[in-house]
Amino acid sequence: MTTAVYPGSFDPITLGHLDVISRAAGVFERVVVAVLVNPRKSPVFRESERLGIIREAVAESLDELAHRVEVETFDGLTVDFARRVGARFIVRGLRAVSDFESELQMAHTNRKLAPEVDTVFFMTALEHSYLSSSLVKEIASFGGDVSLMVPAAVVTRLSGRSRLG
Ligand code: PNS
Repeated sequence: MTTAVYPGSFDPITLGHLDVISRAAGVFERVVVAVLVNPRKSPVFRESERLGIIREAVAESLDELAHRVEVETFDGLTVDFARRVGARFIVRGLRAVSDFESELQMAHTNRKLAPEVDTVFFMTALEHSYLSSSLVKEIASFGGDVSLMVPAAVVTRLSGRSRLG
């Protein structure tokens, strides 16, 4: 079975992330979405919420590919998590050229740490390529409408939040 890990903060997941998950599930038999638990950051959504939101969004929008997707939390190195779940690929999305430099650095570093794990990039769909989780939180914090930017599961949970990043 070909397994890929899609690591990220997902605070919160956007339609751009969901597009990458969906396309990765079309290529890999098993996609493990890996939600980073970073003790140095204070996320808007707790790990358990991010897991629940992603699972809900995947079930709602991936139809027959949803069974290929698992969602887990991790801490430490992405390559260690990839090895733990038996993944030979790391998936990342590229929205624009501006993402390339840091993603290239991360891919080379991960390959140095784990030569058997390759990074595969999906170009985020054009209609979602302007999106970022931080932008979503900023818009929501001013009461703006983010329903075209994030899955419904996020919209529901964003409303009524007092602290948004
Ligand atoms: O959604 P993000 O914040 O762009 O995701 C970044 C992430 C989680 C992929 C990156 O920070 C990461 O891999 N963190 C785990 C620690 C690690 O492996 N660091 C070395 C990466 S070169």
